[in-house]
Amino acid sequence: MNRLDVRLGDRGYPIFIGAGVLLDRSRLREAVRGRQALVLTDSTVGPRYLPPVLAALDGLKVATITIASGEASKTLANAERVFTALADLGAQRNACLIALGGGVVGDLGGFAAALWMRGIDFVQIPTTLLAMVDSSVGGKTAVNLPHGKNLVGAFWQPRRVLADIDTLASLAEREYRAGLAEVVKYGAIRDESFLGWLKDNAAALIARSPDAIAYAVLRSCEHKAQIVENDERETGERALLNFGHTFGHALETLGRYEKWLHGEAVAIGMVMAARLSAHLGMAPLSDAHRLTDLLRRFELPVTADESPETMVELMRLDKKTLSDQLRLILWRGVGRAEVVENVAAQDIVACLHARE
Ligand code: NAD
Ligand code: GLY
Repeated sequence: MNRLDVRLGDRGYPIFIGAGVLLDRSRLREAVRGRQALVLTDSTVGPRYLPPVLAALDGLKVATITIASGEASKTLANAERVFTALADLGAQRNACLIALGGGVVGDLGGFAAALWMRGIDFVQIPTTLLAMVDSSVGGKTAVNLPHGKNLVGAFWQPRRVLADIDTLASLAEREYRAGLAEVVKYGAIRDESFLGWLKDNAAALIARSPDAIAYAVLRSCEHKAQIVENDERETGERALLNFGHTFGHALETLGRYEKWLHGEAVAIGMVMAARLSAHLGMAPLSDAHRLTDLLRRFELPVTADESPETMVELMRLDKKTLSDQLRLILWRGVGRAEVVENVAAQDIVACLHARE
């Protein structure tokens, strides 16, 4: 079992990572300060992993709310369901909301916890690789509107994160590999030696070796924690976590959120960002190839057939600008991402056309 601390003063919290974290009842029980707890989960995760969570809460006043699994559940309507469940529970200001599931449950649960009585304790129990390495850490919470993703949200840090890597055994292969793209991202943006470790341990990760997964999650959370400690509200360094994301969001939109999982779109987007960096003379093309090879090793997509012109139009919309210049996260090479202002739209189009 590994423990890692996010140092944010009185809003700091521990992350526990390992196999069987959920079986140690005290890890969850000691995070609940009051007498009431609401567990939010989804229809896939709940039947599998609720029992150890409820066992740990034995003796408290507990209610459970289960939403349909999938992104379509991250709505204001479901947040209202959570508020109603909290009201029915008689939840006081020292009540605790526990999110058991992937990023959808975590984002929705955090959002509701931030708002109920202006903020109650919140515990994240992430059960997807993406949630373990990204969404459960850092306090970004949100729901979607028909107008767009994550439009309504709050920063609200959890009180504890419990990442039991045993839960990943039931995760669908495609979801697991999409999560690996976000792991690769940490190496790409700030840790060349981690990228090397990922290459050397690719077979173990694909085979879901518990030791390899535990290290990958720990190293990713260390990076995420450091970035959040430095820049909680994303006024600077935290933006580097969006490496590949502006391209990726355009791909997700073009695929109507059905063709690509988020991590898959980010994998392609990171390759595009790396190739654009080479095209602009910022970084060697060989580094883009290194990244591409690693993502391929994880059987992640690295190219898309979308029209470059359409992609760039959507990227402008994503950045809420119609200007010919975009602000993107690019890199100087593996491990050295940076924010680049004023990238010319025509350079992006030219680079995407040159599919070398
Ligand atoms: P998700 O929560 O929809 O989970 C993916 C699927 O896996 C779902 O069908 C779920 O039911 C299932 N699942 C979850 N755990 C499982 C398990 N252990 N075994 C079997 N099935 C399991 O999606 P996600 O990929 O975890 O998260 C995506 C969401 O996270 C998006 O809404 C995104 O906006 C958000 N996100 C937030 C942040 C942040 O910083 N807050 C960062 C990245 C992504
Ligand atoms: N997932 C991006 C962030 O937490 O900032």
